[in-house]
Amino acid sequence: MTLNIHSSEDARRIAQRRLPWMVFDYIDGAAGRETGAARNRAAFDALTLRPRILRDVSQRDLTSSVFGQKTNAPFGISPMGMCNLSGAGADLMLARLAARENVPLGVSTVASTAMEPLIEAAEGNAWFQLYFSGDGVGTFKLVERAKAAGYETIVLTVDVAEVGRRPRELRHGFTMPFKIGPKQFIDFALHPRWSLTSLYAGKPQMANFDMDGYDFDRTESRAKADWDTLRRLRDMWPGNLVVKGVLDAEDAVALKGAGVDAVQVSSHGSRQLDSAPAPILELAKIRAAVGADYPLFYDTGLRSGEDVVKAYHQGANFTFFGRILQFAIAAGGEEGLQELWNVLRSETSITLAQIGERTLIKDA
Ligand SMILES: Cc1cc2nc3c(=O)[nH]c(=O)nc-3n(C[C@H](O)[C@H](O)[C@H](O)COP(=O)(O)O)c2cc1C
Repeated sequence: MTLNIHSSEDARRIAQRRLPWMVFDYIDGAAGRETGAARNRAAFDALTLRPRILRDVSQRDLTSSVFGQKTNAPFGISPMGMCNLSGAGADLMLARLAARENVPLGVSTVASTAMEPLIEAAEGNAWFQLYFSGDGVGTFKLVERAKAAGYETIVLTVDVAEVGRRPRELRHGFTMPFKIGPKQFIDFALHPRWSLTSLYAGKPQMANFDMDGYDFDRTESRAKADWDTLRRLRDMWPGNLVVKGVLDAEDAVALKGAGVDAVQVSSHGSRQLDSAPAPILELAKIRAAVGADYPLFYDTGLRSGEDVVKAYHQGANFTFFGRILQFAIAAGGEEGLQELWNVLRSETSITLAQIGERTLIKDA
């Protein structure tokens, strides 16, 4: 069956029809008046790619690499909390995709499936994303647990000192853990396909918090984290350490100096600070500041293969897609996800041909 997903916008449109309003707006929404999202989109659109001709681009290679490991695609899967809201079993669909494509799956602190089955389904292609929370006691327990589960890469997300206000989700009364009041009941009743499968499969939960009496409050302040927290994490984590949510060149240079293995330039999909600068433009500045050889990853606002190529041209060594993957699942389950992934691969490959390049890997 083909679902007619020919672009990420198609996936979003179908998802909007199928998802309860509350769930769609939780996934799609951004901070404040959503000017940050618009600013980044406008910046992407203003960047151009120059067509080049007659270069024999018949053999093109979409592989890339992260931490010395070859990936089949030049993009991976951003960590996202509560993915099973987009469809029952969504986390595992993303994990199986990561296994097939040999790309990293970001496993969120607030994932709706526990970290152990996810790294197993991803056949090792999983990175654990860490939120520092409260006084940090539970946070460091999670680090030990990730180590025991076989994770080799940890991603510390630093752009959520406080959770940004996202009016679209707030208006629907979106809370975690999930509460179903009269308003939500009507919303779910009007989207029976989603409700029957998702709620029947069990109300999505934050699955990493059934241990040691440690609970996670999504709205609890994460503001206590500082450079000492980072040093402590660096000392206790022998594997790769990525810091995600960086938009400032001075911060990136300091992270490099603190022994962080890679920086992920991101504005959290424009869900945090509405007035943040366009991350795709900061990427080039950060690349200039950290030098040519330091690993830089990019996410936020990627909607197509052309966007991926632009991010590599701005200095990224690897990129990550976020919400559009959830829209593909909402639109068509695991098939929908694969269909969108194929579209993104195809768009990237065709773009390379048009600009006379065979690969995204520098010096390849
Ligand atoms: C529904 C949703 C949940 C998210 N949850 C997390 C999370 O738990 N941890 C995290 O580091 N980032 C989280 N993010 C941010 C993503 O990792 C990523 O930065 C962002 O989605 C990329 O932008 P894009 O959606 O425009 O591609 C979330 C994003 C969305 C849309």
